[in-house]
Amino acid sequence: MGNIARHIAIIMDGNGRWASERGLKRVKGHERGAEVVRTLTVHASNHPEIEVLTLYAFSTENWKRPKMEVDFLMRLLGNYLKKELPTYVKNEVRFETIGDLSRFSDALREQIETMKRQTRHFKKLTQVLALNYGSQDEIARAARKLCDSGEKIDAEHLEKHLESAQFGPVDILIRTGGEQRLSNFLLWQSAYAELFFTPTLWPDFGPEEFERIIEEYKRRHRRFGGI
Ligand code: IPE
Ligand code: IPE
Ligand code: MG
Repeated sequence: MGNIARHIAIIMDGNGRWASERGLKRVKGHERGAEVVRTLTVHASNHPEIEVLTLYAFSTENWKRPKMEVDFLMRLLGNYLKKELPTYVKNEVRFETIGDLSRFSDALREQIETMKRQTRHFKKLTQVLALNYGSQDEIARAARKLCDSGEKIDAEHLEKHLESAQFGPVDILIRTGGEQRLSNFLLWQSAYAELFFTPTLWPDFGPEEFERIIEEYKRRHRRFGGI
């Protein structure tokens, strides 16, 4: 009963603070965060309603961070993909991405493509990783394509050119880490998303809190502009 949780999107924030609170280097928080990604992906794949789980892993603005942290995140992503491919296969999870991958190394891009290829027939869950993703960049790229196509310029045609359109509108948007902002994530697809902000830092987030959010979502009254 209640609203259907088809597409859930998460802004995974708070890794750095989680580590600093423990006197650890920020990157330790990212390491722990990657484990939560795996746990939650497996959990979502066993959930009867969830078809898409989109996770914000690296924004177009995150390149502003110190090179050491950016390099670490790139290595972490490579290691995660290598290590977790069997997890995705076992749980029948299709791996996808949104974002401009052209700034990543050839080796990492190759790994991402391999992961997509080897999981593309799975249907239990589609897990979309937002990598070098920024909504404004995505919308600008779609606008350029729409102009080149010569099609009518309206919302329906613009949407067709958005990379994220293939995964459908977001039902639930969660941000961990206490900040209450979207930080350039899925602006178009979240037009009617139900928003949830939790103070829990991403490394401390897990299936239990995730399920509590879904429960609350089910009770919300979505009107989509109607009455
Ligand atoms: C989110 O955690 C992960 C990425 C942006 C890659 P942060 O690294 O932003 O952690 P805080 O917000 O500094 O605690
Ligand atoms: C948003 O977190 C990006 C990701 C979670 C990948 P940030 O930590 O980069 O966002 P701001 O800087 O607090 O807005
Ligand atoms: Mg942050």
